[in-house]
Amino acid sequence: MTSAPEEHLRLEGIGVSFGAVNVIPSLDLSVRKGEMVAFLGPSGCGKTTTLRIIAGLNKPSRGQIKVGGRDITQLPIHDRDMGMVFQSYALFPHMNVARNVAFGLQMRNVPAREAETRATQALEMVQLGHLAHRKPKELSGGQQQRVALARALVIEPSILLLDEPLSNLDAKLRDEMRVQIRALQQQSGITAVFVTHDQVEALSMCDRVVVMRGGQVEQFGTPTEVYERPATAFVANFVGRTNRLKGTVTSEGTLTAAGQQLRSATTLAPGAVDILVRPHRIRLQETGEAANKVEGTVSSITFIGDLVQYAVRVGGGEIVVEEATRRDRSPLAVGDGVTLGWSAEDTLVYPAGEK
Ligand SMILES: Nc1ncnc2c1ncn2[C@@H]1O[C@H](COP(=O)(O)OP(=O)(O)O)[C@@H](O)[C@H]1O
Ligand SMILES: [Mg+2]
Repeated sequence: MTSAPEEHLRLEGIGVSFGAVNVIPSLDLSVRKGEMVAFLGPSGCGKTTTLRIIAGLNKPSRGQIKVGGRDITQLPIHDRDMGMVFQSYALFPHMNVARNVAFGLQMRNVPAREAETRATQALEMVQLGHLAHRKPKELSGGQQQRVALARALVIEPSILLLDEPLSNLDAKLRDEMRVQIRALQQQSGITAVFVTHDQVEALSMCDRVVVMRGGQVEQFGTPTEVYERPATAFVANFVGRTNRLKGTVTSEGTLTAAGQQLRSATTLAPGAVDILVRPHRIRLQETGEAANKVEGTVSSITFIGDLVQYAVRVGGGEIVVEEATRRDRSPLAVGDGVTLGWSAEDTLVYPAGEK
């Protein structure tokens, strides 16, 4: 018997209109049991709206939400068995940490003694057992966010919903929390939806990523798929950095740009195209047999610590190349001639004009 991954959460034709504005036209999505899925997209693309609809904080204008095959579209929030963590933490300021965490259990009529024990365990899970008697305002941002996480997990929800939970933390703490949240999610085996506009969070923490734009799914795939085989130019640009060259495909299928022939692993339809190549996939001083070789002249060099960015003038345009900083690198100077090289798989080609 083949064991197909079990579907847990399903959105079917979910649509949302605020007055006359159709924010989400029609969304279909399926999340498997135990996986963590990211909703990734720019501000305003509908991530929070979709999450709130899953949670039951908003009702969709159209469509259905199913959990384990059961239609829960009309089910009130507290009957949905979901935990939610907000960007703003949304802790109760007048309650101490322990009471904040126990609150959801009290609401579910869990006896006081048991609620206390479970709240303590949840706080220990996020390493905050020692701060149980503090008020939220006596905690740092990262600590408050961990309280919010404990509060969501203590009710042992079947689905955990996180809305930009790391956006208000500084960079170092964000890195730590990424690892912690992912570890907690994997240990508990909980199904999770993680909303973020940060591609690093989406790629590093989640099993699969939904790239959203204007209330629609641009691509739904593993981190590797959306990064290596972006379905659209929008995805390629949003998930990582790219160079963009204008090119054409002839009726024989030959791809030309920057005054010369290029090779792509993509099957190409004739016409005008945009060619995207990631800066770190390009070698600066190609000496071997690369599928793509382009001569150019270094026009600027920018040192940014762990990376060096080279802008290279090529026929009809400029290509940025990124290299990891190395001590043994032979120094290049502005004005030097270089031979850029990259593989056919790294030449991403899309119909011209796609944003
Ligand atoms: N209550 C509301 N009334 C009217 N428009 C809203 C409301 N909530 C969200 N929107 C609009 O819906 C769009 C998507 O918002 P949102 O889901 O918050 O985006 P994201 O979380 O991806 O940044 C935005 O254009 C936003 O202005
Ligand atoms: Mg949002």
